[in-house]
Amino acid sequence: MKKDFFKDSTIKFPAYEPWISKDDKLIVNKTLGQSMLTLGPQLEKFEAAFCKYTKSKYAIAVSNCTAGLHLSLKALGIKEHDEVIIPDLTFVADASAILSCNAKPVIVDINENDFFLSITNLKKNITKRTKAIIPVHIYGQVCNIDEVLDVALDNNLKIIEDCAHAVGTFHNSKHVGTLGNTGCFSFYPTKNITTAEGGMVITNSKKIADKVRQLRSHGMSKSLKSRYSSEYPWIFDITEPGYNYRLDEIRASLGISQLKRIKKINELRKNAAFYYHSKLQNISGIVLPDMVNNKTHSYHLYTIRVTKLFKLSRNQLFKKLKQAGIRTTVYWMPMHKYTAFRKFANLSDVKNTSKIYNEILALPLFPSITKKHQDNVIKIIKSFQK
Ligand SMILES: Cc1ncc(COP(=O)(O)O)c(C=O)c1O
Repeated sequence: MKKDFFKDSTIKFPAYEPWISKDDKLIVNKTLGQSMLTLGPQLEKFEAAFCKYTKSKYAIAVSNCTAGLHLSLKALGIKEHDEVIIPDLTFVADASAILSCNAKPVIVDINENDFFLSITNLKKNITKRTKAIIPVHIYGQVCNIDEVLDVALDNNLKIIEDCAHAVGTFHNSKHVGTLGNTGCFSFYPTKNITTAEGGMVITNSKKIADKVRQLRSHGMSKSLKSRYSSEYPWIFDITEPGYNYRLDEIRASLGISQLKRIKKINELRKNAAFYYHSKLQNISGIVLPDMVNNKTHSYHLYTIRVTKLFKLSRNQLFKKLKQAGIRTTVYWMPMHKYTAFRKFANLSDVKNTSKIYNEILALPLFPSITKKHQDNVIKIIKSFQK
């Protein structure tokens, strides 16, 4: 086991450890020898591999998922005075991306049982200005996407699926991200595959793909390759200013190598999640996530709920686990609790996130987690059983 990242010598069991294999290191090393370190063959290969895996027509690699969300919104025409609905329980990136388009995030409450956007609340918050919804496949499970798609269809809204947790999550044999207008993935170190920092946008629309690709690299009208195969490589146009949201060759090559073992990665995650699931059954006050259903799951996070019936509060249990050298954490503080975002929520209508925020706790989960690690977590939780 590696030393605790934060150099806390009392921590024996981290919440997460990245899995960088020998092959990962070899490919990265080889890429470092290329003459072109960005917008080159590794990027093309990574995008092609991601298309193949998700069966999407187009995949555009970006510097991170937040950039992917921003570009998706731009490509779908989201602009000033538009409103985009997001769940109260999500990562801040969804709201930041909307604000980057000068549009308004509208934060709505979730269902208490599954943490998905509440459809009643979603419908209640649709106005003339609403243009899109960002449903989140939270913790790696398929969210209530069919219901969200129905609402979108009825109201002519665009769908950007937040798939940050969901590489390897399928719905009726379709990979998530291919159900709405775009899907955005994160390759942050804790995610199911990592490029350290990185992301991907997938879509089946050529128009959206072309726009995202163009905006990814300053809005240039020509790709690097086509510029250098034309007469004067410096001649290109900018019709709409873009960004530098590129994923370099080094990270793209790491992505190729990681994606090759996605099946193995998710199988190891699944085994670990099911181990918790079998050992933590029937503890009064502990609510386990719904793993045993007919949907696929990428097992990104295993989040339990520590309810009033348990001997300790969530915070007390967090502290007891930490005292035993085990790191756990909470995903996340609800959006309505942040100073910058509070004004985008109806504070009288966030009762479910307010409740579950005090109960959720993500247990350590990663491909190389050992039984010893998990047994220690289980032992501490069980020792406070009433
Ligand atoms: C649900 C969700 N959406 C978006 C993001 C943003 O991803 P990135 O860090 O790659 O920008 C994250 C990152 O943790 C996330 O968990």
